[in-house]
Amino acid sequence: MHNAAFSELGVNARYLACAVHPDHLAEGLEGARRMNFLGVNLTVPHKLLAVPMMAELHESAEKWGAVNTVGFEGRTSGGEWLPMRDFTEEQPTDVRTRGYNTDADGLLEALEQDVGLPLQGARVLLLGAGGAGRAAALLLAEVGVARLNLLNRTSAKAEALASEIASRCPETMVEVGYPQEENVDLIINATSLGLRPDDPLPLDLARFSLRGTKAVFDMVYRPAETPLIKHAAESGARAVNGLGMLLFQGTRAFEIWTGRPAPVQVMRTALENEVYEL
Ligand code: ATR
Repeated sequence: MHNAAFSELGVNARYLACAVHPDHLAEGLEGARRMNFLGVNLTVPHKLLAVPMMAELHESAEKWGAVNTVGFEGRTSGGEWLPMRDFTEEQPTDVRTRGYNTDADGLLEALEQDVGLPLQGARVLLLGAGGAGRAAALLLAEVGVARLNLLNRTSAKAEALASEIASRCPETMVEVGYPQEENVDLIINATSLGLRPDDPLPLDLARFSLRGTKAVFDMVYRPAETPLIKHAAESGARAVNGLGMLLFQGTRAFEIWTGRPAPVQVMRTALENEVYEL
C-alpha cells in the first residue's frame, strides 16, 4: 500500500519488508538511521522492545507504550530537528529516531469510516484483553463509550484491564463478562480466534446471541470472512473485518514520513489486491 501511494504521488521512495530478529532490533534501526531512511514500521514483537531505543517519543507512543512507526529526523546547520524528507540536497550528519504509535488512531478511523457507528454513548462487547484488546479498550473508554463489557479466555487479564479503565476513565461503565441484556451496539474481536479456518467463534452463542447487535468488527482480516464475520452478517449485523485498521495505521504512518495526505483509496485497493491476492 505504501509503494502504491509513493507511485501515485510521485514520491521517490520505496517500502521494503525486512525480517529482523528481536535480538538485532537496535542494530537494524541503527542501519536504517545511518542509511538516511525516512522511517520504519515495526510489528510484533518489536513494538514494545523499540520504546526504550527511541531518542524521542511522540505522545501517541508514550500513551500506548508501544512504537509501530519510527520517523527519522535530521539536524539542520541551525540546530533544528526536521523530518528526513526535508533534506533534499545535503544529508544531515546528526539523525535521530522519533517513535510514534498509529495503531490506535488506525482502529478509531476504521471504526468511524468502515463501521460508521457513533462510538460516543455506545454499548460495546470487547473480546480479547491482549495487546490489541488493551489498546482498543482504552481507546473506546477515552472516546466515551457508555458501557464496555470485557471478555477474555484468561479472565484475570480482563479483570486487570477493567481496573485500569476504571482508574483512567472513571465515567465509563466497565464490567468483565457477557452483558446482562441482549443488546449491544458493537462487538469487537481482538482475540486471534478466526485466523485459522477451524477456530471456534470468539464468543459463546449460548451465552450471548448476536440478535440485536448492530455491528461486529473483527480485527482479523485474513481470511476476509472469519466465522464471526459470517455469523454476524447472517444475524443481520453490519460486519466489518480488520483490513481498515491495517489501512489506517498505514495512512497515518505515510503522512508522518512524507508530510502529505495519504491517497487512501489507492492504498486500500493495493492492500486488498495484496492481502486477498485478487
Ligand atoms: P495481540 O497483540 O494481537 O492482542 P496477544 O496479546 O497475544 O496478541 O493477545 C491474543 C488474544 O487472543 C488474547 O486475548 C488471548 O487470550 P489470553 O489472554 O487468554 O491468552 C486471545 N486468544 C488467543 N488464542 C485463544 C484461544 N484459543 N481461545 C481464546 N482466546 C484466545
